[in-house]
Amino acid sequence: MRRMPQKEAEACLITGCSTGIGRATAERLVRSGYTVYASARRLESIKDLEASGCRLLELDVCLEESIRRAVGTAEAECGAVSVLVNNAGYGSEGPVEEIGMDEIRRQFETNVFGLLRATQLVLPGMRRQGHGKIVNMSSMGGRLTLPGGGIYHATKYAVEAISDALRFEVRPFGIDVIVIEPGAIQSEFGRSAIERVERVANPDPAYDDFREVLKREIRGAYEGPLAVLAGEPDDVARAIERALRARRPRARYPVTLGARLLMGARRWLGDRGFDAFLRTRFKTTPRASATNDATNDRRD
Ligand SMILES: NC(=O)c1ccc[n+]([C@@H]2O[C@H](COP(=O)([O-])OP(=O)(O)OC[C@H]3O[C@@H](n4cnc5c(N)ncnc54)[C@H](OP(=O)(O)O)[C@@H]3O)[C@@H](O)[C@H]2O)c1
Repeated sequence: MRRMPQKEAEACLITGCSTGIGRATAERLVRSGYTVYASARRLESIKDLEASGCRLLELDVCLEESIRRAVGTAEAECGAVSVLVNNAGYGSEGPVEEIGMDEIRRQFETNVFGLLRATQLVLPGMRRQGHGKIVNMSSMGGRLTLPGGGIYHATKYAVEAISDALRFEVRPFGIDVIVIEPGAIQSEFGRSAIERVERVANPDPAYDDFREVLKREIRGAYEGPLAVLAGEPDDVARAIERALRARRPRARYPVTLGARLLMGARRWLGDRGFDAFLRTRFKTTPRASATNDATNDRRD
C-alpha cells in the first residue's frame, strides 16, 4: 500500500471504532499513513487498535463533554482535526407506533446530534488551517425508507440534509463534506437492530406478525440468500479512503451492489411502485388491538 506523503499525514478522528465499519476504517486509514484517533465509548473495546498505530480516545457521541475532550486532545497534539469520520450509530428498528419516545430521542441523540456536535467542534480548527474533510455515515436508508425503519431512516435522512447544507457552507473554507451510503454491511448492526425490535417499548399484539416479518427481513439481509448483496466493513472503509484521496470528492458514495440496486429501484418505481415491491416482502396479517384503552395505557 502506498504511504501517504508527510503533508497528508494529518489527524483523523473516527467515532464508533469498537466494531464494524469504524474499526475497519481506523485500521485502513492508519495503514495509509493518517494519524488516526480511533475512539469508542469503552476504551478497552479498542485497545488492540493501539498496536496497529492508532491513538485511542474515549468518546461517547451522546455526551457533550466527551466530544469536547476528544476533539481538544486531537487539536492539542496536531493543531486541528483534518478528517472527521462521523461513524458511530445504530439502527432503532420497529413499528413507529411502538418505539418508546426515550429510545427515539436516544436514536437521534446518537445518529444525528452526536454527529452534528462533533462536526461543529472540529470546524473552527479546519477553517483555521484552511482545509478539512467531514465524512458522514449515512446509509442507503438516507435515500429510501423500509418498513420498520421509520425512526432509523429519519436519522439518516437528517444526516443527508445536514450534509447537503454543510457541503455548501464550508466549501469556501476548503472543507469537503462527504456522505457514505452503505447497504447491508456484515457488522454488529443487524444483530443489534433485531434485538431492538425484540424490546420495543410498547408491544401491541396488533404488530406481532409485522415484528416477526421485520426480524426475518433484517436477518435475511445479513444471513439469507440476499446476503450476497451485502458487504464487509472494509468495503466501506475503502470507499472512505477513496473519497479522502480524491482531489474533488463526490458528495455521495453508495457502497454495495444491494444499495445501488435498491436506491435505483426506489427512484424508478416511485412511491406506489416501491410500496407494491415492499408488500411482496412484508406480507402480514394485521390484527386490531384488544382494546384502545389497553393500547393507550402502554404508551410512554
Ligand atoms: N451495517 C450496516 O448494515 C449499515 C448500513 C448502513 C449504514 N450503517 C451505519 O454505519 C455506522 C456503523 O455501523 P456498523 O455497521 O459498523 O455497526 P456496529 O458494528 O454496530 O458499530 C456501531 C459502532 O457505533 C458505536 N456507538 C453506538 N453508540 C455510540 C455512542 N453513543 N458513542 C460512541 N459510539 C457509539 C458502537 O459502539 P459500542 O460498541 O460502544 O456500542 C460501535 O462502535 C452506523 O452509523 C450505521 O448506521 C451500517
